[in-house]
Amino acid sequence: MHTITNTRLLKVLNNEPVDRTPIWIMRQAGRYLPEYLATRKRAGDFMTLAGTPELACEVTLQPIKRFSLDAAILFSDILTVPDAMGLGLYFEAGEGPRFKSPVRTPADIKQLATPDPETELRYVMDAVRLIRRELNNSVPLIGFSGSPWTVATYMVEGGGSKEYQYIKRLMYGDTQALHQLLEKITTTTIAYLRAQADAGAQALMVFDTWGGVLTPRAYQLFSLQYMQAIVTALRKSHASIPITLFTKNGGMWLPDIARTGCNAVGVDWTTDLRDARSLTDDKVALQGNMDPGVLYGSKQTIREEVQRVLESYGSGGRHIFNLGHGIHQHIDPDNVEVMVETVHELSPAFHR
Ligand code: CP3
Repeated sequence: MHTITNTRLLKVLNNEPVDRTPIWIMRQAGRYLPEYLATRKRAGDFMTLAGTPELACEVTLQPIKRFSLDAAILFSDILTVPDAMGLGLYFEAGEGPRFKSPVRTPADIKQLATPDPETELRYVMDAVRLIRRELNNSVPLIGFSGSPWTVATYMVEGGGSKEYQYIKRLMYGDTQALHQLLEKITTTTIAYLRAQADAGAQALMVFDTWGGVLTPRAYQLFSLQYMQAIVTALRKSHASIPITLFTKNGGMWLPDIARTGCNAVGVDWTTDLRDARSLTDDKVALQGNMDPGVLYGSKQTIREEVQRVLESYGSGGRHIFNLGHGIHQHIDPDNVEVMVETVHELSPAFHR
């Protein structure tokens, strides 16, 4: 592991110059790594892995040991929050996340617990403390949560969804109940992110995976408004912690997201970084946005696409190299190495 403190990511988030573009990868600890699969097998299931600080720490460090990345991201899940609110999270083999008790009615919403992060989510905070100790300041640690809207979709649907039938029934049938739910999740998420920062997370990211299924108006009302509340609350308690907001398929809303006061905005591959940069006017850092599918390509193709992403952002400014969404499980780790090394090799030219 590196011995010199690497602060590139924090510098870009804080609008300071860097020698090259920092890179980390969404879902960098995951099933494409054989060492991850081995640890998960030892754990038995995902929740034991995420719920045991020593194991969560071990898998958080795996990609840091293998690649020259500029940040670690806490190994956990956005759905630990609704689990702690009493929904009973479990993973069905090959089926993704499920809840034993989905939330459908105003009565369900009233019954929801507002967990204390250092009690019900203590295992997450213990993992953060352990990871910080093990990282020994080699690279910064990113903490995270889901956006209230995205977490609500899983809570109401009971798992992943294609049509968002139940949450849209609530949105258009009992708007007040949906707002009550989003408020409860927001309150819990603010406490959860504050606790991660207090435990040692050095940057925070909010994943809004499903904001892009909303109309422009509904996005403002049901997703962005609650992310704004999170940024505002964190700014009051933790003025200097950098915050990144990422709405998948939210390219047309980048100016609105940038106006929340966040430090960085995640961009998926459907928006060109050139356009994203002019839309946000260098007011925020931009994180992204290579199509994860590029990593199925040849080494030459990967190198060309890295160059294309760096060029699309352009010189100077505040770019954090990443994929446009999480890495897929069937990607060859050697191809990830090519991407990381190419960013190291080609990006200094953009910072002279
Ligand atoms: O990025 C990282 O390496 C940190 C860990 C992390 C995980 N999930 C681990 C995980 C993070 C940041 C998440 C976020 C997350 N979880 C999101 C938002 C980001 C995104 O990808 O859109 C969402 C929507 C979830 C919910 C979730 N968790 C789903 C839909 C699934 C199953 C789908 C899948 O990829 O299998 C999970 C499980 C999960 N969370 C895995 C990992 C590594 C795979 C579990 C396994 O080992 O089988």
